Amino acid sequence: MQDDFQNMFKHIVDADVVVFGSPVYIWQVTAQMKLLWDRLCGLFDENYKIRYDAKCLIMVYTQGNPNAQAFQTSFKTNEEVLKIFGLNVVDTILLTGGGDPNTAANNQKLLLKAYEAGKAI
Ligand SMILES: Cc1cc2nc3c(=O)[nH]c(=O)nc-3n(C[C@H](O)[C@H](O)[C@H](O)COP(=O)(O)O)c2cc1C
Repeated sequence: MQDDFQNMFKHIVDADVVVFGSPVYIWQVTAQMKLLWDRLCGLFDENYKIRYDAKCLIMVYTQGNPNAQAFQTSFKTNEEVLKIFGLNVVDTILLTGGGDPNTAANNQKLLLKAYEAGKAI
């Protein structure tokens, strides 16, 4: 299928670090994010061996729920799945109580955590 995925795939293969961000929709990443992950199977071969160097991955989530623990099971599952692609989660940035577009911009502690996550790589 020829669409903008080929370009995204190349960016991922060429990247030193990958960042995936998604709001939580119905306890999980959005369907769009999952669709991208479904198409990353080209990152491993028929024996599930990765074709390219493993990479650090930073996950960024926003959720409406104020409880940071609420969807940790989903986040852990994602971490395990993404490991199969050679994408190893090194940090997770989670915005809770999202909904208002300014929630993240007003959260200095979270912005600092995101800054530190980038700096640590
Ligand atoms: C279809 C839909 C499903 C959602 N499901 C959840 C959910 O399961 N748990 C939660 O905490 N927030 C949920 N939210 C809230 C979003 O995670 C929250 O608004 C997010 O921080 C920002 O998403 P937005 O950029 O689409 O507004 C949902 C929002 C939408 C539109």
